[in-house]
Amino acid sequence: MTLQNKHILIGITGGIAAYKICTLIRDFKKSGAEVKVICTPNSLNFVTKLTLQNLSQNEVYIQEFDVKNWKPEHISLADWADIMLIAPATANTISKIAQGIADNLLTSVACAFSKKIIIAPAMNVNMWNNPSVQANLKTLHKRGIEYLPPENGFLACGYVAKGRLCSLEKIYNAVEEALNYSDSLKGKKVVITSGGTIEEIDPVRYISNYSSGKMGLALAKSAYDMGAEVVLISTKDFDCPFKLVKVKSALDMQKAVVEEYNSTDYIIMAAAVADYRIKNFSKQKIKKGLEETITLEFVKNPDILAELSNKKSENEIKPIIVGFCAESENLIENAREKIARKGCDYLVANDISRKDIGFGSDENEVTILNKNGEIKKLEKASKNVIAREILEWISTK
Ligand code: CTP
Repeated sequence: MTLQNKHILIGITGGIAAYKICTLIRDFKKSGAEVKVICTPNSLNFVTKLTLQNLSQNEVYIQEFDVKNWKPEHISLADWADIMLIAPATANTISKIAQGIADNLLTSVACAFSKKIIIAPAMNVNMWNNPSVQANLKTLHKRGIEYLPPENGFLACGYVAKGRLCSLEKIYNAVEEALNYSDSLKGKKVVITSGGTIEEIDPVRYISNYSSGKMGLALAKSAYDMGAEVVLISTKDFDCPFKLVKVKSALDMQKAVVEEYNSTDYIIMAAAVADYRIKNFSKQKIKKGLEETITLEFVKNPDILAELSNKKSENEIKPIIVGFCAESENLIENAREKIARKGCDYLVANDISRKDIGFGSDENEVTILNKNGEIKKLEKASKNVIAREILEWISTK
């Protein structure tokens, strides 16, 4: 990945974390990027124009009507940039952008910006928890603006709580990743399943598994960033800029995926589907009796992945089917057996004996197999990086 010759537009708003952005500008410059900075007038209480000018080696933009050429500044800056990063982003600026308010140069550029925007909020914990701020963030996120949540730590206001700007490394990586997306999924439709299915026992009880849905979500976000139309079929609720179909059981999931089958290019089954469901769902809450032990009877769920892999398409083109497998031993051997048995085009194998990756974790390390027996090991990385690498492999191999 490289930042060579990329145009990064940084918006700095009025928070104490503004001083940290000086280091980030230097890091971007060292990597070969061109950087321009827009400051809100309040941000200059925390960092000087001269510092930012020296570090970015460019003029610093503050006022909307400092007209230097025929094109309004907010349009020429938006045209110039490959990406816009707003860091630190205050509650005020986040809320204005979400509502389409364009009352200074920074918010006007954000309003006119049609490419990727990443925001890194930083504020007092009570402001962060304010329902309006959270609702505005949700709105932005739904529209495809990525945000990097603040972290816990010492806040300038004296609190030790959530609100501190996330690490500069996280911001740098998010910008670098966003600028290096391939568009190999442009014009394609990708359907992804995520989360552990929920098999109900009675109105208050169910069985499920530890799947957090994070890998499926990371795949969905990456596919979206790579230009695909995305449908995420999930047992977990997420705010996302693409279509989310919320399901519970394996049978619900099967129905939702089959509905998409004839109109999609890829189906990625990242969900942890229960192999069995309760045979007799009790409409009433099961009462405790005198018995010391009880027995529940289960029936087999359909194997959605195997069914899809063997299904006949109504169109000429069958979607490419990708499965995931979770193995606690003999990873490659079991994965080879599973891809042959299920008949999918690719299988992404996870080693669940490792505590540092996989279930619930933000990181993963996987091996991808294809039908022809080719294998690719993806080194340990964030689920976002792994997701992009999986998508790049399956869309080009
Ligand atoms: N899968 C599915 N339907 C099921 C069970 C699993 O579609 N009823 C899919 C999962 O979404 C995953 C793949 O099959 O993409 C492999 O899941 P895994 O649990 O590893 O495979 P199983 O067939 O359940 O094999 P086992 O549990 O015996 O290892």
